[in-house]
Amino acid sequence: MGDSLNLLPASFADFRRAAEKRLPRFLFDYIDGGAGAEVTLRRNTADWEAVQLTQKVLRDASRMDCSVDLFGEQLALPLVLAPIGMGGMSARRGEVQAKRAADKAGIPFCLSTVGICTLEEVGAVSDRPAWFQLYMLKDRGIVQEILGRAWNSGVRTLVFTIDLAVLGTRYRDIRNGMAGGLGPWGRLRSGPLDWLLHPRWAWDVGLKGGPHGFGNIAMYVKQSKNPRDYLHWTGTQFDASVTWKDIEWLRQVWKGNLVLKGVLDTDDARQAVAVGADGMIVSNHGGRQLDGVASTATMLPRIADAVGSDTTLLVDGGIRSGQDLVRALALGAKAALVGRPWVMALAAGGEAALSRYLGLVKQDMRTALGLSGAINARDVGRGVLL
Ligand SMILES: Cc1cc2nc3c(=O)[nH]c(=O)nc-3n(C[C@H](O)[C@H](O)[C@H](O)COP(=O)(O)O)c2cc1C
Repeated sequence: MGDSLNLLPASFADFRRAAEKRLPRFLFDYIDGGAGAEVTLRRNTADWEAVQLTQKVLRDASRMDCSVDLFGEQLALPLVLAPIGMGGMSARRGEVQAKRAADKAGIPFCLSTVGICTLEEVGAVSDRPAWFQLYMLKDRGIVQEILGRAWNSGVRTLVFTIDLAVLGTRYRDIRNGMAGGLGPWGRLRSGPLDWLLHPRWAWDVGLKGGPHGFGNIAMYVKQSKNPRDYLHWTGTQFDASVTWKDIEWLRQVWKGNLVLKGVLDTDDARQAVAVGADGMIVSNHGGRQLDGVASTATMLPRIADAVGSDTTLLVDGGIRSGQDLVRALALGAKAALVGRPWVMALAAGGEAALSRYLGLVKQDMRTALGLSGAINARDVGRGVLL
């Protein structure tokens, strides 16, 4: 889990460095990168860091409590592991390991439509239901079938992603040939040579960690020999014509909690309330879609002012530490999601490393609660900010 000098990881940056060593280049870049020149990706983290906390002392910090209630669940920490496509490639049967770590930390894990492990595999980990994320597919019959499987696997909170009608242009993925187009030398470098240079991953995940298909949609992809077949299928199935009318349809079909992911505009937030969503995630897809849009730290307070009293707001993008969690709560979120942090920690050392990361976040959050005067996660408001 530590780096080559056996030092222990203490922050997101440490897990990221360890993941960079462990993962093949194409996979590390796929996880780490964003769209375009990665302006929004950088803003996401920088803008949380710029939110200044207050220091208020002598308020009986022994009463500290990080827990919150969300959609009828008690969370030990106001944190959810975000849906990550191919997240299960960072460690063997990665989503199962992540679900175990989330269970131990007392927080929800959200499985992606294009995760590696199936709903059933993740559902079998424990009695605590996973969350599930879905995109609108052109074939609404498949959408209904997948929703039925999710319900039968115990899922009661559906995260429906609405910011992927058009796929962001991710330069790193293009360079690494994720969308094809590499010549023979490029294919060797980003294929067998990349594996040879990362033997621990090649053995643990590449050779022993299969099947590597997108578990939840594998049965619909006729030609499914390699990741490119899946990417081609999703390219043809993602529905660019989707509108709020389709969300109204979805609201009729899905009886559990419906959380819309990818709201970054106050008018959209009002629409999300109007169509009957139970909550929404203020998100720019971790800076992977439209490069140049505002950070979520910038948009969260505006959206909270517009709809905060009518809905449950969540946020993601650039959240890295327990201080960031307190900042997110202070600006109007009930909880936050992390994407890259959980995948990087998992890559660095599997379930144990992810548990360690979540423990560090909790420790940081306790410090932030204890010294900002909030004490209790449920009481965090704008008063903890300068
Ligand atoms: C490698 C990667 C894959 C992702 N795949 C999905 C996905 O399948 N579905 C989805 O709704 N969001 C996906 N996201 C976005 C995340 O759910 C989340 O919004 C984002 O990672 C939050 O930003 P952070 O990584 O800075 O925490 C993905 C993000 C990354 C980094």
